[in-house]
Amino acid sequence: MARDSLQVVVSLSMFHKFILLINLIFYSQIGFIYGSKEDFSILNFNLFGQDYTPPTPPLPPPSPHPPSLSCEEDLKGIGSLNTTCQLNTNLQFENDVYIGGKGNLDILPCVSISCLVPGCRISINISRDFSLGQNSSILAGTFILRAFNASLVDGSSINTTVLAGNPPAQTSGTPQGIDGAGGGHGGRGACCLTDNQKHQEDVWGGDTYGWSMLDKPWSYGSKGGTTSRETDYGGGGGGRIKMVIKGFLDVNGTVLAEGGDGGFEGGGGSGGSIKIAAHKM
Ligand SMILES: *[C@@H]1O[C@H](CO)[C@@H](O)[C@H](O)[C@H]1NC(C)=O
Ligand SMILES: *[C@@H]1O[C@H](CO)[C@@H](O)[C@H](O)[C@H]1NC(C)=O
Ligand SMILES: *[C@@H]1O[C@H](CO)[C@@H](O)[C@H](O)[C@H]1NC(C)=O
Ligand SMILES: *[C@@H]1O[C@H](CO)[C@@H](O)[C@H](O)[C@H]1NC(C)=O
Ligand SMILES: *[C@@H]1O[C@H](CO)[C@@H](O)[C@H](O)[C@H]1NC(C)=O
Ligand SMILES: *[C@@H]1O[C@H](CO)[C@@H](O)[C@H](O)[C@H]1NC(C)=O
Repeated sequence: MARDSLQVVVSLSMFHKFILLINLIFYSQIGFIYGSKEDFSILNFNLFGQDYTPPTPPLPPPSPHPPSLSCEEDLKGIGSLNTTCQLNTNLQFENDVYIGGKGNLDILPCVSISCLVPGCRISINISRDFSLGQNSSILAGTFILRAFNASLVDGSSINTTVLAGNPPAQTSGTPQGIDGAGGGHGGRGACCLTDNQKHQEDVWGGDTYGWSMLDKPWSYGSKGGTTSRETDYGGGGGGRIKMVIKGFLDVNGTVLAEGGDGGFEGGGGSGGSIKIAAHKM
């Protein structure tokens, strides 16, 4: 019922252009995944009753993000994201959020910004500086920050613990079973065979995954199994965090992507992914 360790890759690089290139590749892959295969289906065409009509060309890849929320109206802050926007109000979202502009974003002390839906994404892409004030927090399943400089003041946290979206299939501990095996990720989840009526192959810890993208980790943690058919006692998987900082990153707060605890009746969830690239930390 062990908790799998957090997967962390930190890369310090002077080669910003290289980092940006990797990110462009990443977004183009996402665009590809969104492109619908149904556009190509021949089943929709009546081949004998009418002239052949070529299938409609695929849709252009969707923009990687919706338009930005506005500082004052949507985020109830002060100022503008193209100059300086200060957020002083707790915000709780239920859907993915994109915040972008050419200025600074300051989240003032003791402010919480959250989207507690598993896998929910909060993306911030600003051209100048980001700061997360004392005792402030950002809670989401996926958090992405692009900024020039970024500082996390003491007591602040970026926390994706237990907010994972769906991990790859078969990576959670015995999904439908009644044994509390741990979720897999960088290693196989722990498996504790407590019932000797059962076979070893019916009770498994989650599979290993994530190694192929170790240089740009971007997978969720997976769930622990539960010992009960009625109640889910397994811990949830950790979320994902990516921070791409062109200048200085100063962290006195915490950055978390932990899996949830199991217990006597369930397995622990595995940790998610954290990727940080900055010129200087
Ligand atoms: C910020 O500037 C961009 C481009 O100059 C513009 O499209 C956007 O509407 C501006 N946003 C705000 C909040 O003024
Ligand atoms: C971030 O915003 C800039 C403009 O301010 C834009 O050029 C860039 O494509 C955005 N990056 C991502 C990954 O959305
Ligand atoms: C980033 O931080 C450095 C060091 O504190 C500072 O010299 C620089 O002006 C900052 N850049 C911006 C765009 O604020
Ligand atoms: C942040 O929390 C610490 C410890 O609880 C407290 O001493 C400090 O006053 C808090 N800061 C603010 C700005 O509320
Ligand atoms: C982090 O702590 C160091 C040492 O106390 C301090 O010099 C620095 O200004 C702090 N940075 C932030 C962003 O709070
Ligand atoms: C992070 O989130 C988890 C789950 O919500 C919570 O239990 C934990 O206390 C949080 N940690 C911090 C440092 O805020």
